[in-house]
Formats: sequence, C-alpha cells, structure tokens
Amino acid sequence: MLLQNAVLSVFALLACSNFVLSKIIDVSDENFSKVSKKKSFIMIFATEKDCRECKRLFPRFVSVAQAFEGKDDVLFGKVKDRSLIEAFNITKFPTIVYFEQGNAEPVHYKGDISVDSIFEKMKKEMKKDISLLKRQYTILCTYENFKDIIETPSQFKFLLIFDDESKEEIKMMEDLAKIFKNDDDIIFPLISVKERSVVRNFGAQNFPVLYWYPNVNKAVKKMYGGTFNINELLGFINQHTSIGRQMNGDLRTDSGQIDEFNKFIEDNTFNFQQAASVNMALIQKQAQEIADSIPLFRQRYTDYYMTLINGIAESGNLDETLDNEQTEVETELAKKLRPKRKDFFQRKKNILDKFMSEHSKLLAQIMAGDNPMAMQGIDLPTEEQKQDTKKDKKPKSKDPKKAAKPTKKKADKGDKKPDAKKVEL
Ligand SMILES: *[C@@H]1O[C@H](CO)[C@@H](O)[C@H](O)[C@H]1NC(C)=O
Ligand SMILES: *[C@@H]1O[C@H](CO)[C@@H](O)[C@H](O)[C@H]1NC(C)=O
Repeated sequence: MLLQNAVLSVFALLACSNFVLSKIIDVSDENFSKVSKKKSFIMIFATEKDCRECKRLFPRFVSVAQAFEGKDDVLFGKVKDRSLIEAFNITKFPTIVYFEQGNAEPVHYKGDISVDSIFEKMKKEMKKDISLLKRQYTILCTYENFKDIIETPSQFKFLLIFDDESKEEIKMMEDLAKIFKNDDDIIFPLISVKERSVVRNFGAQNFPVLYWYPNVNKAVKKMYGGTFNINELLGFINQHTSIGRQMNGDLRTDSGQIDEFNKFIEDNTFNFQQAASVNMALIQKQAQEIADSIPLFRQRYTDYYMTLINGIAESGNLDETLDNEQTEVETELAKKLRPKRKDFFQRKKNILDKFMSEHSKLLAQIMAGDNPMAMQGIDLPTEEQKQDTKKDKKPKSKDPKKAAKPTKKKADKGDKKPDAKKVEL
C-alpha cells in the first residue's frame, strides 16, 4: 500500500515537472491531412533513411518543439514517407517545411537548423505571439526517441540522467547547451530516471549522473567523473571536442586552430617568407602529412591551413597571400551572416591570425637585426638541409614528417583520446 502511494506520488511529480514529454508526430501521405486538421501552424522535418546530417540535426527540432508543449494548435511532425515528401516538393535532406495558417502550400525553411533560427522564423511567420515561450536548448529524451538521438553517429553528447532533485544540474546543462547551440557536433540530451527501461541499461545507482559520448561511430559512453561545475564542464567539452567556446557563447580566439599546424607555422614562417626561393613542394608535402594525421572530428579546418600553405607556395608571396585572404575573410565577416556561417569565417580568421602573428614576429626579429635562420626552430628545408637533419637526428628515417618536427609532445597532446583524465568507467 505504502509502495503504491509512493509510485503514485512519483507520477504526480512527473506530471508537474517543467519537462513534459513533447511529441513529434510521424506523418505520412495517408494520415497527414487528418493529423494536420485544426492546426494553426505546422512544422515538418523531412528526413530519409541513412541521412547522417538529418540525424545530427533532428535533435534541434526536438528542442524547438519542447517550447511548444501544451500548444496543441501547433504541429511538429516528421516525415520519411516518399510520396508525402514528393508532394512537399522536397529534394534534399534534411529539409524543414512549414505551413502558415490557411495555406496549403508548404514553405521551405531556408535558415540554419538551430533552435534560435527556427524559433525566430516561427516568430515571424506565426500569427500568434510566441515571444514569451521559453526556448530550450537541451533535448528531452523519452523511451520513444532515445535510441534515435543517442545512436546518432559522429556527434558528441553529454547526457544527463536526472531525478526530481536535479533542478540545478538541469539548469547547468541548459546553460551549456545554450553556449553550444550552434555547434552541430555536440548535443545535450536529458532523460528522466523515470524512463526506467532506458535508464536501467546504464546501471547507475546515484542520480543525477552525466555520461559522455565521444564523437565516434558507435554509441559508446563513459560516466563523467568530474564535478557539476559549469567552468569545469565547459573546459572538459572544449578539451575533448576542440570546438572552442567561451562562457558567453562566443568562439575563443583559438577556435579552429590546430596545435600541430600552429607548430608547423611557427617552424616554417621564415620559409613562407622566402616562398619564392625555397622548396615549397616539400613543405606542402610535410603539411599534408600533418593534415592526414589529424583525427577526423578535428579535420574541418585542416583544409584552410592547406589552402593558405598551398596559396603561399603558388604565389611565392606570403604577404600577398595573407593580405588577399584577410580581405576576403573580413569582407564575409562584415556581412550579415547566419550564425553557423559566421562561425565558419571567424574560425578561418583565427587561423589566418596565427599566420599573420608569426609573420609579424619574424619581421620584428629581422628588423631587430636577428638572423632568423640562426634562430631555433627555423629550418630551411632544401633537399641538402633535409639530408643533414636526417643525419643529425633520424639517421634511418625517410619520413619527411619527422624532419618537419611537429614535436612529439605536441602531437601527443593533439591526439589525446576523449577518455583522458576526468572520464572514468
Ligand atoms: C502516419 O502513418 C505513418 C506510416 O504509416 C505511421 O508510421 C504513423 O505512425 C502515422 N501517424 C499517425 C499520427 O497516425
Ligand atoms: C518544386 O521545386 C522546384 C525546384 O526547387 C520548383 O522549380 C518548383 O516550382 C516547385 N514546385 C512546387 C509545386 O512548389
């Protein structure tokens, strides 16, 4: 009897909780007109089988839907059905379409698939004032959507299993999710301990508890062993994802930069400066080998390092290449860009800034009368010199990467697996 009462009160608490399960309805050709009847606004997320980007972005749609809990006149739907997709004239995935009140034709949403961008669009298009709805950036999982969300490949996840006492922790995850709201590489799912059939599998005894899912193809998880402290959590995420965000959500000035490449630039600025007369082909080859050694999830910005290095090789003129790039990047940044696009160019700028600052340093040294060639860390990798280096240090190595000296220490640091330090099993 007592037990029964306890169970009942748990359900009562669940019903009063801030987080009520928000449903995204699967729709198809046969039931769409029925399901959409009497809805004043309809949002549909179109996906197809094996669409990786759809899986990565769908959780953002779930977050948006959460804000509309209890607003029964707004329909959030998901469609896989080919005939409805064709009827909506959808040809690429994922696509979000929406229907304004009294309009039978779907409008294709064109913005970023992010909570803010979708929300802003709805605010503009809906006849109702939704500005008072509270946006959420975490993703509330249920038994129904848990597998879909958690098994999405190639995405970091910080999952909180919460109970009734977890208000502070939920708030903290919400703050973190907001900081990383434009980063498709990471999501912050929440699941209640009451979702027993799911939570049981974790084997955790104490709640709340956090699990970290690295960006790999399978859903492997590790219990987070650190403390619930927002600074610590932010540091943990930045360290393991190399996304590089500050507490206010801005990108850090080193976001996009790659340690291994930074070291390479430091070592080669003099060569870049002399690009017209040194063996740039060899330098390009060394750079490419660094690019190939970077773990997949950090490879997004290797392209830009390579673009710059190849550009310098091609023009034979460091100043000119950097100046042209700077003009281009700053022109883009001066435009009114979508947030994700803006981040993309901001990270390019950060990389460019590294080239620029090393170049300025070199110029200052030359002005001061130092001989840059004599200074440590600067090699002239002509073929002869290469041979010398090999003789001195790596008599047997024919590997030009070793001669390029991305030092062992740095390389280790860069390759650090996401299971270091604070994660424990
Ligand atoms: C609509 O049809 C699809 C496909 O048959 C089905 O999976 C889905 O559950 C249906 N939705 C509703 C709300 O009945
Ligand atoms: C469907 O999309 C194509 C290309 O995006 C467009 O030209 C055409 O007008 C669209 N048709 C309808 C019925 O919206």
